[in-house]
Amino acid sequence: MDAARLSDDALRERIARMFWFHSIALRPGVVTPGLKSREHLAAEEEAIFSAVRLRGTSVLDIGAWNGAFSLAAERRGAARVLATDHYVWNHPQFQARPTIELVREETGARFELLDLDPTAITPEIGVFDVVLFLGVFYHLFDPIAVMQRVRQVTGGVLLIETYQDALDQARPMMVFYPGATLAGDATNWWGPNPPLMLHLLLELGFERIEYRPHPVLGVERGIYAAFLPGAVERLGGLFDPPWIGLTHPR
Ligand SMILES: C[S@@+](CC[C@H](N)C(=O)[O-])C[C@H]1O[C@@H](n2cnc3c(N)ncnc32)[C@H](O)[C@@H]1O
Repeated sequence: MDAARLSDDALRERIARMFWFHSIALRPGVVTPGLKSREHLAAEEEAIFSAVRLRGTSVLDIGAWNGAFSLAAERRGAARVLATDHYVWNHPQFQARPTIELVREETGARFELLDLDPTAITPEIGVFDVVLFLGVFYHLFDPIAVMQRVRQVTGGVLLIETYQDALDQARPMMVFYPGATLAGDATNWWGPNPPLMLHLLLELGFERIEYRPHPVLGVERGIYAAFLPGAVERLGGLFDPPWIGLTHPR
């Protein structure tokens, strides 16, 4: 059915039958009931995208779910956005592929969709100026192998948002959560600390690493902007506090 022809009430009914992680305004007065509120998403978008100048860039969104960050990147001037996901798009409970399609249709967004698990990323999908890896790292059993793949498709800057742990430790480390021992969720595997993220990103060839705590949740979650050599001049934003220069202390 062509969603554009739905009445507001019919659209609301359709939305109500779907599972939503992101709260996205599809029309004036019609907002998807996401687990993440609009305010929470707005704070995340402001924090994450303050690290980059998006205008005219190509953006890869890994783990896009309902597409809030793909939509935000497009609205902030990205020239091309590719939204990828697999787990929640195909999960029997979440069934999220039709949700991001509905977001595209209703908002008129042009971002592209590709069903791709992060463990299967290859350079065949292209190289992107800006790569979003938000809320995905700690869900991966082997995040380092995936980070090596992510590096291959990053042409400028990698933006990471992750749960973190071992914050009292100065040495690079991450905590393993067997079974469902973190928040009762068996898809949570690892909690890295900032030194781990710094040194992993350096080993992967990134040169400048900026870090800030999550704007709502504080240091429970971290946001990292990792620039390849030469990329910060082209793509870097303004790193005012609370950004902390891990490689370039201020
Ligand atoms: C917490 S959501 C984050 C969604 C979005 N990027 C955001 O930040 O709001 C986790 C995302 O990671 C993806 N993902 C990738 N591999 C996963 C795995 N092995 N287990 C669970 N989720 C996984 C999910 O499909 C989902 O899109």
